[in-house]
Amino acid sequence: MEKANETSDFESSQLGTKQYWETAYSREFKTFQDIGDIGEIWFGEDSQERMVDWLDDCDDVSKDDAVLDLGCGNGALLLELRQRGFTHLSGVDYVQEAINLAAGVLAKKGFTNVRLQTGDLTADLSSLPAVSCLRCKYRVCVDKGTYDAISLTPGGAKEEREAYRRNVRSLLQPDGLFLITSCNWTKQELMDFFQPDFKLASEIRTPSFQFGGKVGRSVTSLIFS
Ligand SMILES: C[S@@+](CC[C@H](N)C(=O)[O-])C[C@H]1O[C@@H](n2cnc3c(N)ncnc32)[C@H](O)[C@@H]1O
Repeated sequence: MEKANETSDFESSQLGTKQYWETAYSREFKTFQDIGDIGEIWFGEDSQERMVDWLDDCDDVSKDDAVLDLGCGNGALLLELRQRGFTHLSGVDYVQEAINLAAGVLAKKGFTNVRLQTGDLTADLSSLPAVSCLRCKYRVCVDKGTYDAISLTPGGAKEEREAYRRNVRSLLQPDGLFLITSCNWTKQELMDFFQPDFKLASEIRTPSFQFGGKVGRSVTSLIFS
């Protein structure tokens, strides 16, 4: 997985370990405290805005629908959603430092009513207490780069990816929508993987490039129902 603005020093498989993210968010949280920089916007601000634009324009989604950010990291997507009027927001990440950073980023803009919790999206959610964010039902779940990170779990990630798919399905209301933005998987690969449990509902147009006469995309953004 490639960062939006720089290339990581780490081997890509390390992005599939919790230790990598703990180190990254400890550093980013300290930087945020020192100079107020919120850290990496994965896949760039445009990518985040395209997801929020799509939700904003969707007649079926209202601003008070429950939205969960899966693997919220620094909370930048939640901040964008909140600033665009979405009021019923939650974020989970399996790294406590990410949750601390997201809470700081949102609080700095005066948003203290976003529900933030640690949680592993590949775990058995049925064993969590009923009050957990991961036992609630959402109208919308958003993922920007989290399924990509899970897919890099050392050892092939098959079980983790399947657990993630199962968990996202269980987090959604029956009429729920799952927005996923990925730079590791093509549209076809995402459809092949998610379609046993989800149906492709829409696609967000993302910039394309041409190479050797073929059209490719660096980021894929799909909506499943
Ligand atoms: C590429 S970053 C993207 C962060 C955020 N979605 C964004 O767009 O800025 C991947 C995120 O997924 C989180 N993550 C990875 N595996 C996870 C898991 N099993 N459960 C919850 N969060 C996870 C990481 O801690 C990290 O915040």
